[in-house]
Parts: sequence; structure tokens; C-alpha cells
Amino acid sequence: MKAAVAAVVSIAVSTLLAAAPAHAALDNAAAEALMKKDGCAACHSIDKKIVGPAYVEVAAKYKGDKDAVAKLTKKVKDGSTGVWGPIPMPPNAAVSQADATELVTWILTLKK
Ligand code: HEC
Repeated sequence: MKAAVAAVVSIAVSTLLAAAPAHAALDNAAAEALMKKDGCAACHSIDKKIVGPAYVEVAAKYKGDKDAVAKLTKKVKDGSTGVWGPIPMPPNAAVSQADATELVTWILTLKK
């Protein structure tokens, strides 16, 4: 009986582990594809300033700020002005909440 329970538990655990990558944080390749799809790549790159700040600089600025994901997701959607210089970021209203959250979560994991 114990063995059967253990088997069921181990199947459940391996199913969970197998399912995990679908919800794991974006890797850089997936994130860059999303940046292109959502138009961010026109103005941002991981480690170079284009029109907007390099994402590694954004990550450094908000390091340790636990509200950063919520705050920056809202700014991606609504636009941002006056934080990085004279050029504003226009609203990205067409970008889904899920994409914006995923991108910001990934941006904040980047290291210089
Ligand atoms: C038209 C150019 C442009 C596009 C497109 C754009 N950005 Fe930006 N982004 C900027 C600029 C310029 C800034 C700096 C704004 C400022 O100083 O407040 C910025 C700032 C940011 C910041 C930091 C905001 C802050 O308050 O520190 C994040 C995060 C960001 N962008 C993410 C994104 C994401 C994700 C996308 C795609 C969905 C995107 N941006 C699309 C130009 C752009």
C-alpha cells in the first residue's frame, strides 16, 4: 500500500516538474522574441541604450524594489516620462498585461 502511495506521489511530482517550464521565467531568447513581437526592440536592447535605457540599467536602478514589477508593468502600458532623460516612452497600450508583466519580470532579473 505504501509503495502504491509513493508511486502516485512520485507521478504527481514528476508531472508538476514536467509542466514547470511553461510557467518558468523567460530565457533571453524567448524574451527577445517577445520584445520584437511587442515592439520594445525598436527602442530597447538588453545592454545598450537605443531610444530607451538598456534593460540592464533598468534592472540595476530598481534592484531591491519589491514594487518594481507592478510599477514598471503599469508604466510600460501607460508610458513613462522624465525618469531616464528628456525622451518619453509612449504608451504601449496594445501590449497585453501578461506580456508586459513577463517582460518586466525578466528585465528585472538582468545583470550588468
Ligand atoms: C518608442 C520607443 C519605446 C518603445 C517602443 C518602448 N520603450 Fe520602454 N522606454 C523608452 C524610453 C524613451 C524610456 C525612458 C522613459 C523615461 O525617461 O521616463 C523607456 C523606459 C522603459 C522602462 C523603465 C521605466 C522607468 O520608469 O524606469 C521600462 C521597464 C521599459 N521602457 C520597458 C519597455 C517594454 C517592455 C516595451 C515593449 C512593450 C517598451 N519599453 C517599449 C522608449 C520605448
